[in-house]
Amino acid sequence: MARRKGPEPRTEQPGERISDPVPRVDAVAKASGSALYLDDIRVEGVLHARIVRSTRPRAKILSVRYPETPAGYAFIDARHIPPGGANGILMIRDDWPIFADREVRFRGQTIALVVGPDRGMLASLAQQTVVEYEDQVPVFTIEDSLVCSGGPIHDTDNLFADYHLRKGDPEAAFRAAAQVVEEEFRTGWQEHIYMEPQGCLASWKDGRLTLQASTQCPYYLRKAVAHALGCGKENVRVIAAHTGGGFGGKEHYPDVLATAAAVASHALGRPVKLVLDRQEDIQTTAKRHPSWIRIRTALNAAGGILGMDIDTRLAAGAFETCSCIVLQRSIFTSTGAYDIPNVRVRGRAFATNVVPSDAFRGFGAPQALFAIEMHMDHLARRAGVAPVDFKRRHFLSKGSLTVTNGRIYDEVLLDAMLERILAASDFRARAASARPGHGIGISFFNHGCAFTGSGERDLIKGRVGLRALADGHVRILSAGVDIGQGLSTAFRKVVARVLGIPLSRVLFDQADTDLVPDSGPTCASRSIMIVGYLLQEAAKKLKGCWTEGAEQEVWQEYSHPPHLVWDAERLAGDAYPTYGWGINVVEVAVDPLSFEPEVRNVWTIYDVGYPIDRLILEGQAHGGMSQALGYACLEKLELRDGVFLQGTMADYCIPTSLDFPPIRTELIENPYPFGPFGAKGAGEIVFDGGAPAFAAAIQQAIGAETSALPLTPERIRALAREAAG
Ligand code: MTE
Ligand code: MOS
Repeated sequence: MARRKGPEPRTEQPGERISDPVPRVDAVAKASGSALYLDDIRVEGVLHARIVRSTRPRAKILSVRYPETPAGYAFIDARHIPPGGANGILMIRDDWPIFADREVRFRGQTIALVVGPDRGMLASLAQQTVVEYEDQVPVFTIEDSLVCSGGPIHDTDNLFADYHLRKGDPEAAFRAAAQVVEEEFRTGWQEHIYMEPQGCLASWKDGRLTLQASTQCPYYLRKAVAHALGCGKENVRVIAAHTGGGFGGKEHYPDVLATAAAVASHALGRPVKLVLDRQEDIQTTAKRHPSWIRIRTALNAAGGILGMDIDTRLAAGAFETCSCIVLQRSIFTSTGAYDIPNVRVRGRAFATNVVPSDAFRGFGAPQALFAIEMHMDHLARRAGVAPVDFKRRHFLSKGSLTVTNGRIYDEVLLDAMLERILAASDFRARAASARPGHGIGISFFNHGCAFTGSGERDLIKGRVGLRALADGHVRILSAGVDIGQGLSTAFRKVVARVLGIPLSRVLFDQADTDLVPDSGPTCASRSIMIVGYLLQEAAKKLKGCWTEGAEQEVWQEYSHPPHLVWDAERLAGDAYPTYGWGINVVEVAVDPLSFEPEVRNVWTIYDVGYPIDRLILEGQAHGGMSQALGYACLEKLELRDGVFLQGTMADYCIPTSLDFPPIRTELIENPYPFGPFGAKGAGEIVFDGGAPAFAAAIQQAIGAETSALPLTPERIRALAREAAG
């Protein structure tokens, strides 16, 4: 069948707003199958790889015996790391070994790769490997990690981080309290279920390693692979394949596969492809951090909040990954959208004998927001006040101090947003008239945009370029990756708009570290706000020196907004350059027999500065809310002896479009001066508020308080029964 060409990207007409939707530039290639994902890439002479995994959660390795291999097959392990290289996957630290050689710390950990021409042969060869272990007592929960049962896994205390924050005078607040309310909140793991499982293809040739990968962060991979092989970064070239979703799961985890594949390719002199199947991906890749959060609140005699004491504990898994930064975002979000005058926070990340947790959309904020939103809801109900009225009394506003004693510099439009969403959802009438089994809930939240503190200035130092070609096209030079969030369309729109040229004249290819500068990783909802702003400024420069028909390049480097103050040692000051804001309303019905929750209506409103494309944002809002509702009521991972019982998409169920009603989304404009056309980050805030709004609705439906996720029918039934006595 002849392939029809898709619609040409539409040119914006003068007078049109940049936010007016255009067809996504990657839509046709992705929908028609012409876009190449990692496993679609075919190379001559490729060898396939499979991971030989630990079957014990915690043990010393006494010996490893490999089976005889047929010709052309090989086992690759720590002994194959080249001299000068390191058996450590360099993320922030390199504590996670590429190949376990002395001990294993979680089930599923890589011990070796088995490599060969026929993929079908590899599983049985892996299975015939005999590893002799000396078992040690494993630790699976935060509670066990805290008491270091079986001796510490990490350091002397099992802590990857132990942070303290302090705002105002919390001790005085508790001394003055007429009443103290204390609650504990728990959340579990969540698996990313990106559409495309993890995979990479490493080719060592002529003293250089070329890596193609499904990734959010090509430059992270380059750093990790160079560290593993002990070569200069310039000897590693990373090309991002089309990446079928990431959600944070392809931020650091691809380093785990790429370093092993690179060692194998280096040892064998052949291209090596390592692609996980869905079950391996669910059972052995990084997850969202489980959390335990205790909030104690000091109240005065009238029920007003004097102060809070918050203890946040995340289960980090066996190695550090970026858990400390996830923990930072979690504690920096611990009082949510509220201005609490006196606060003490302690945050700890605990080592356990479970696959490491890592980045996942929201990055520690969703756990904190679930806790603070439910707690505020409970305080309100116990005081006999409607949660919406109680919460709005405490909203942060321009000039407020945050929990890290930073400033809210920009206008906060929560009151106006609240009016709009109350009207759109007819909230008060629905809340007042809810029959048993029906409920409506509301959540308020903010999300710090981009990297924490001075990370953009001191760690990332993003850089972009624009290259004008003789034929009038302009090529974007950035390492940003379109993981489905619409970045390739949004970047082009910004550049085309500034230059006043049609969208089709702006080119943007798959990131290739040989060809584009390091504009930073695709994470922390930073791409549009940080990299998009650099592109806007670069485009202004190019416009200023534009010569028709000439080849020319302009470059733009990140500079930190001068008003921001941050002390990285004390975690004090402006934790983020600015914040996005959101309100979610969720309406549910609970089946009286099966206790299955049904989401009836969802309304959302966001302040993300200014949308570069309204339709892309709506897509983010729908996807983020669906993922959040999955987290709230469906998605459950249970650990038994260190292995997840769920291993397929039949038992780890994520929502489909049939599970939820239409999600209505409104945006309020509040342009941010350091974002392109006023845009702020939007990719994660759309996840943050779904679970607490859902949980609040369930509470009303069953007349019981709740403090844990996920709210499966079994849990809802237990809570309802308990409440009924
Ligand atoms: N949307 C889609 N479709 N696929 C994804 O993988 N990742 C989310 C969010 N939206 C993701 C997504 C996460 S975790 C982040 S940090 C942001 O997109 C990253 O993109 P940005 O930097 O362009 O906001
Ligand atoms: Mo997103 S969790 O920062 O990739």
